[in-house]
Amino acid sequence: MARDPRYDILFEPVTIGPVTARNRFYQVPHCSGMGYRYPSAEAAMRATKAEGGWAVVSTQECEIHATTEVSPFTEARLWDDRDIPALARMADAVHRHGALAAIQLVHQGHDASNRYSREPAIAPMHRPVTTYDPFQARAMDKSDIRELRRWHRDAALRAKRAGFDLVYVYAGHDLALPMHFLSRRHNQRCDEYGGSLENRVRLLRELIEDTKEAVGDTCAVPIRLAVDELSGEAGITADGEGREIVEMLAELPDLWDVNVSDWSNDSLTSRFGEEGAQERYVAFVKQVTSKPVVGVGRFTSPDAMVSQIKRGVLDMIGAARPSIADPFLPRKIEEGRLEDIRECIGCNICTSGDITGVPIRCTQNPTMGEEWRKGWHPEEFAPKGSDDQVLIVGAGPAGLECARALGRRGYGVILAEADEELGGRVAAECRLPGLSAWGRVRDYRLQQLHQMPGVELFPASRLTPENVLEFGFPRVVLATGARWRKDGVGRQHNWPIAGSDQDHVVAPEAVIAGTQIAGPIVIYDDDHFYLGGVLAEKLRAEGHEVAIVTPAPQVSLWTSNTLEQGHIQRRLVALGVEIVTQRRLEAIGAGEAEFSCLVTGRRETRPAASIVLVTGRLPEETLYQELTAAPEALAEAGITSLTRIGDCLAPATIAAAVYAGHRYARELDTPDSEGAPFARELAALAPDSGLRVRKQPMASVDTDDRLAAQLADPAAPLNEYGAIRRVMICPAETAYGGQQRLDAVWQGEEFLGRPDFAEARKEYGRLAQVLAESGAEIDLFSDAAGLGISAIYIRDSSIVAPGGVIICRMRNAYRAAEPAALGAYYAAHGIPVLGAIEGEGLLEGGDFVWFDAETCAVADGYRTNAEGIRQLREILGSGVEVQAVPLPHDQGPGACLHLMSLISPLAADLALVYSRLMPVPFRNWLLARGIRLVEVADEEYGLTMGCNVLALAPRKCLAIEGSPITRARLEAAGCEVIAFKAEEISLKGGGGPTCLTRPLLRG
Ligand SMILES: Cc1cc2nc3c(=O)[nH]c(=O)nc-3n(C[C@H](O)[C@H](O)[C@H](O)COP(=O)(O)O)c2cc1C
Ligand code: SF4
Repeated sequence: MARDPRYDILFEPVTIGPVTARNRFYQVPHCSGMGYRYPSAEAAMRATKAEGGWAVVSTQECEIHATTEVSPFTEARLWDDRDIPALARMADAVHRHGALAAIQLVHQGHDASNRYSREPAIAPMHRPVTTYDPFQARAMDKSDIRELRRWHRDAALRAKRAGFDLVYVYAGHDLALPMHFLSRRHNQRCDEYGGSLENRVRLLRELIEDTKEAVGDTCAVPIRLAVDELSGEAGITADGEGREIVEMLAELPDLWDVNVSDWSNDSLTSRFGEEGAQERYVAFVKQVTSKPVVGVGRFTSPDAMVSQIKRGVLDMIGAARPSIADPFLPRKIEEGRLEDIRECIGCNICTSGDITGVPIRCTQNPTMGEEWRKGWHPEEFAPKGSDDQVLIVGAGPAGLECARALGRRGYGVILAEADEELGGRVAAECRLPGLSAWGRVRDYRLQQLHQMPGVELFPASRLTPENVLEFGFPRVVLATGARWRKDGVGRQHNWPIAGSDQDHVVAPEAVIAGTQIAGPIVIYDDDHFYLGGVLAEKLRAEGHEVAIVTPAPQVSLWTSNTLEQGHIQRRLVALGVEIVTQRRLEAIGAGEAEFSCLVTGRRETRPAASIVLVTGRLPEETLYQELTAAPEALAEAGITSLTRIGDCLAPATIAAAVYAGHRYARELDTPDSEGAPFARELAALAPDSGLRVRKQPMASVDTDDRLAAQLADPAAPLNEYGAIRRVMICPAETAYGGQQRLDAVWQGEEFLGRPDFAEARKEYGRLAQVLAESGAEIDLFSDAAGLGISAIYIRDSSIVAPGGVIICRMRNAYRAAEPAALGAYYAAHGIPVLGAIEGEGLLEGGDFVWFDAETCAVADGYRTNAEGIRQLREILGSGVEVQAVPLPHDQGPGACLHLMSLISPLAADLALVYSRLMPVPFRNWLLARGIRLVEVADEEYGLTMGCNVLALAPRKCLAIEGSPITRARLEAAGCEVIAFKAEEISLKGGGGPTCLTRPLLRG
């Protein structure tokens, strides 16, 4: 279907500094609970949104340094180069679908407790950290501010290298240092960073300027600013300092992403705010700047979005939750499929994932967070695996979603519901105060089901066991829900509460259904989520005297995970509901109830004409028990599986019920998974090998000193052919990690084929054996956690030079972290690091060849550039002649062409070469040095990385098997050739024996 022309405006491109967004849909930064810990899952989730049509897809908060560390929350992380590959994976994945990738750099100042890093937190002033941890943040002096700016700048440069198009400066949510500096209450400094607003804005201005200067040539630099903290004079206000800040910085950033603070006001749930609720605070921004403005407000309606643009409130529609509930929202508007939009219900189950330290989940979108680990795509389903028909009993959230997803797979489904009304608990609860948007859980699914010819709905059909058997469908799913207990059993009570059997004690269903009960009313809430508070609100609005009593220290305690606790408490207090905490209900009498204080044990009685018990639920499992009581009848009826899902299995959230329904449908007719029911991304483990290796960390300082001394020895030979005395390798088991990791990343790292892990280990074992047999002492580089699989090609990240090592800088973002990891290794082992290639410089070890201690050659190509060569010359000093060898374009920048793809020295007077790709002056230079050139056979060059052979000693080399002609030529030149199979570790990754090794000392 074509797009409605009314929405054309939403699909206009928007220029943001040096980049252009394809339309006006902008996924603002939001946490996912995956971040640095589950990078592939993170990348797949963001990629799905890019595929769904969002023009800009942002990360979550990305920590720039170890002094801003918020464990156990899992944000993104860019502390050093080793964090680049994980983020590059996301940026690449987003780019593959034509969207721009944005990253939100953050320093959280006193909001970071640094529990993991154990670094003292920093802040504008001395003060305790925001959490209740017994730590203080220390006041930043000028050098700290300089350091902060440097960290931010370095992180911006890393973000650029990771491939991001927009690099944020973040001053939002009262969660970031720049905002702490803006705030009068957090910043009472007396220097030029405190006092007047101009002074308080200084740091933010400097960070924007620094970021633009560092990456602004190719990356846009947006700012995220909270223009109102909704705390009146105590904070920033949109008609006060919020506006003044925007006026001061109006044209400096490339885009204004504006919202309100704190997070609970920004991600306001539907219970407390409507779509577009932030407009009155952010509307002024467009009048003050000519830069594009993004704003948020749980936008799911295209008409509301168009209105925001046409009325000049926003230029781009920012969305976190609408993009979580429906990653394909833009595509659906573009394709004229408005009825397919899965609208966010504003329940904030998504925030609960991050806050409780686990991957994101969503009530409406059961695939959220499961894109990678379960391979679930929100819009694509595998076709059915059999012609089995499915009978689903119960049309609550689990049953409806199960029917929808089965329908999408093409199964024939009958969905029977006992009630006249479909929707189960959602249908009932959406009538409660503030919860009307929850009805979307039902509405979306019914809308979809009505379009599916294979799914039939039967409301008002309470099925008996006989009915189920009569249907005779092979698959029966019970989604019969749960009911609240009336006996008070819950977290506090393992046995019924005394007196709970009286008539004035009611379960929540009665109140939800509107049964009139007498006041005063006590709601005893041992459930701690939303329902107790909502019922209190409803009953109070009906004019009753209401007290909500809970054993927890706060009312509706779990709603702190949905950012609602403060709002709920405020509303209940404003309505006049009495809140009593830390009390246990001991006994219920006629017209009163007895409680004990959980702290003192003191007993107290309060009047209660009615008591509502919100404590626990019982699954509706009668039908299940009746059916399973006669297994032979099930078999006779042809029922092959009887499965309970959702609340009727284990009562939980609506999100859990929807997930359970979806899962059943996805997994029907698929083989059971062994072990964990999803893919896991595991940290790479250090190898435990029987090789003659130096243990890590290096055991003896003497040994380190020995290597340092050997490297510093001016008489130490520097060449590529002397007998290898010591060599560093990164074994396949370390670099590749395992088959699962290989499967996930080989394409992203541009391997030519998917390596087989088991075979790779065998091949690597042979390589290590040859090295050991040749007399080399082997150092295992095992600090590969966070590195890509290309780390197996360890030669590329460092160069051995007179007196120490030089740290390289790689062209590809997925290898960016390798040099720093190697550098850290060298530093930790006392091996002098002479210098590192920095800034725009590129240099890879495979592009570098020593001929003797005064002479080397370095490629000038796609992987090593002029700036890298300049820095190399500077580090080596004037005592070394550096031959720059221009490389041909050959197969372009994507292919791996190194200098060592053209030459491998095998002795002082012998080298294996491929002259066809060699620049004439270099070839002549080799000949002039008296080096005899043995040519790789044309037909073997591409097949077996013919030129890339590792000299184990003069005229003794290791080559990949399969080059008989070249081998014969080498042998004719007096060489001993050891050939080994290297399909998985070399040919598939494009790195030969020289790439797999970093010789440290040669004889
Ligand atoms: C799960 C979740 C995580 C969030 N994490 C961040 C974050 O890392 N950085 C940020 O600036 N805002 C974050 N936010 C706030 C959103 O960017 C957004 O401003 C807010 O949710 C309002 O937009 P919405 O109504 O479209 O959801 C988060 C919101 C959600 C729902
Ligand atoms: S969990 Fe709730 S608030 Fe969050 S995106 Fe999903 S439906 Fe919206």
